[in-house]
Formats: sequence, structure tokens, C-alpha cells
Amino acid sequence: MFSSIKADYPKNNYKIYLSDNLSKNIEQYLKTFNNKSILIVADDYFTNKINLPDKQLHNLFTSYNHIFIGGGVESKNLNGAIVILDKLNQMNMTRDGCIVAMGGGVIGDLCSFVASLYQRGISLVHVPTTLTSAVDSSIGGKTGINMYDAVNLLGTYYHPSASFIDLRFMKTLEGRDFSAGVAESIKKSFIYDREFYNFIYNNSEKIFNKDYNYLYDLIYKSISIKLFHTISDEKEKSIRLLLNYGHTFGQAFESVYGINAKSLRHGEAVSLGMMCAAQMSESLYGNKTIIREHSEILTKYTLPTKLSCLKNIKIPNVENLFRRLIKDKKRTVQGNRFVICRSIGSAKIEHITDNNLIKSSFDLVLQ
Ligand SMILES: NC(=O)c1ccc[n+]([C@@H]2O[C@H](COP(=O)([O-])OP(=O)(O)OC[C@H]3O[C@@H](n4cnc5c(N)ncnc54)[C@H](O)[C@@H]3O)[C@@H](O)[C@H]2O)c1
Repeated sequence: MFSSIKADYPKNNYKIYLSDNLSKNIEQYLKTFNNKSILIVADDYFTNKINLPDKQLHNLFTSYNHIFIGGGVESKNLNGAIVILDKLNQMNMTRDGCIVAMGGGVIGDLCSFVASLYQRGISLVHVPTTLTSAVDSSIGGKTGINMYDAVNLLGTYYHPSASFIDLRFMKTLEGRDFSAGVAESIKKSFIYDREFYNFIYNNSEKIFNKDYNYLYDLIYKSISIKLFHTISDEKEKSIRLLLNYGHTFGQAFESVYGINAKSLRHGEAVSLGMMCAAQMSESLYGNKTIIREHSEILTKYTLPTKLSCLKNIKIPNVENLFRRLIKDKKRTVQGNRFVICRSIGSAKIEHITDNNLIKSSFDLVLQ
């Protein structure tokens, strides 16, 4: 079980390795740098070595400089970036150095943000350890940190020099974090691939049980779809926008809850956002099956289809959500842009100026 997938961006080429054991590959790759020029930034879940898949990976911490940073979105801010910068400064890191991001989307986004800025850019290696980072955040080159309660307010585009997706990391993921990752794969199936939708729908038990054969296919296909949409449109001018499916509504939920990972995971916000988008699709195109097709697959993965599915959450009113939604970064002078799934596997961008339509799209999830 091994793939070396080419990420062929116009100005950056690198390999994404996918396997059920990449310890040796990571070790070999890091030897191409001077060992004093490597900083491993790992999720603090791995301070306990039994949480790492094997001893070889743990040995990396004895060979190289490293720091641990808490996972969870609370770390994805300027303070988190400064912790990494302080360490780079203390190491006197030179421009030929490298940051290894070993963690989920939070550690990955934070490390890539810092790597893109420190001395105008040093090498970056991704070792994604959550499903969200394996199927989505480690690919495509978007970096970012949150600020003023706004998701990814500061960010850059920056690619790694290599990425190592080792399936063994997925085994220890907690249920909600695992499902949140599946939401990013389901999103890709909605916008691009009906067959992939069927695969995720029909194999929920195998995927939930983290059967490597099925996880491998889930991640491989997700990477391919992400590469397809980002290679020809790195700066999000056309088809890359489709990958924001569910995000315009989703970010309104994230901002209500103060970007708090405990009450709402990113993938859960995307799940709720896709339900709103399905409601909009029904209103715009009269597609009578789209809401059911969304809710059935999301429910199979215990993803929320309405806010009342989440525990200890106060349900906001629609005006509050609407105010937050219209601040979306994808807004242009023509109004807010929405990704709409016309039918499973086919999506398009629409400018929507009808505020009542936008507000009524929240109805389903506010129950
Ligand atoms: N850059 C992009 O294109 C992009 C795309 C999607 C999402 N994101 C970002 O990704 C972030 C969410 O990523 P995430 O869901 O990976 O969150 P995360 O990085 O916070 O990880 C979730 C939790 O899993 C724990 N964890 C990490 N690895 C583990 C493992 N192997 N076993 C057990 N627990 C483990 C972490 O400590 C954390 O508590 C959000 O900030 C979102 O904005 C970015």
C-alpha cells in the first residue's frame, strides 16, 4: 500500500506520499537537510510517545529540534505563530532550514503560515495526523491563522516540499475529529464526483472502522479532487472556489461560536453549511432529492445536519447569522458568492443578491 502522488503546480512540484507506514521515508527525507536546520512542530497529543505510530517516529524527536503546540483551533492565532518564530530565532534558523508540521489542520496551517514568512520562506514538510489534514488542509497551499474572530483572516499561499500521509495516525483519532475529516471528503463528492459519493455512502462501516484499504481510497480520491481543482487555479479565481462548498454558511456558524473547536469542529460547520446550500439548491433549481441526499450521507457519519444535533449549543437567530455571512471573504461588488450543488457531482458558483433566499436557507439547520 504505497502511492507517490505528483503535485504539479505551475511554480512548485512536490510529492505526496500515502501509505500505511512512512516512518522510513520521513527519516530518509529529513536526512537531505542539515540536522541543525530542522524544526519539528508537533501537536502536543504526541508528547506522549505511545500516541505515535512507532518508535522510529519518536526517535525523530531525539534527533531534531522540536516543539509541541496544542491542537485545536484555539492555537491557530498570532500567539501560536510567535511560539514557532521564537524557537526559529533561538535556533538561529537559516534560509535553508525546514519546518516539519506534524499534526492536524491547525498545526499545518500555523506552520505553513510561519514557513512562508520566516526569512521570506523556508522549506516546509507536512506530516498530516488528522483526516481533515490528510484529505484537505495539507494540500493546495493555503496557509492561515484566525484573528478578531474571523477564520483565516491572515494567510498566504505556500506549498510544502513534500507531504507524508501515514494512515496509522488515523487509528487514534477521536470520533468527532474523524467525522469532521470525512465531511471534507463528502464535500468533494458533492461538487465533483457522484461515484465517490456512492463509495463514501456505501462503505461507511469500513471507513468508520478505519479499514486501511478503504481509508487509503478515501484519502487518495480526496487528494486527486483537491489537486484537480487547485493546480489550474491556485489563487482561487475559478474552479478552486467550488472547494468552498458549505463554507460560506459554515463560516457564519464558526464565527457565532467564537471559532471554538469544542462546541463546533470545522468539519461540522462545513456539514451544517452544506445542508444550507442544499436548501438553497432546492429553492433555486427545484431539485427535490438534494436535501435528502445530503442529510443521509452526513447522518451516516454522525455529522450534524441541524444545530440541535450538537450538545450544549445555543441556537442563534437568523439575523445574527446573516450579518456574519455577508462579511464572507469571497464576497465581490456583485454580492455574496455561493457554491451551489445542482445535483450530486455537479456544482457551480452563483452570485446571490436575494437576502430572503439567503436567510431562508438557514431554516433547516436552525430547527
Ligand atoms: N489550509 C486549508 O486549505 C484548510 C482546509 C480545511 C481545513 N483547514 C483548517 O484545519 C483546521 C481543522 O483541522 P483539524 O480538524 O485537523 O483540527 P486540529 O488540528 O485541531 O486537530 C483536531 C484534534 O485532533 C488531535 N489530534 C491530532 N492528531 C491526532 C491523532 N493522530 N490522533 C488523535 N488525536 C489527534 C488534536 O490535538 C486536536 O485536538 C481548521 O483550523 C481549518 O480552518 C484548513
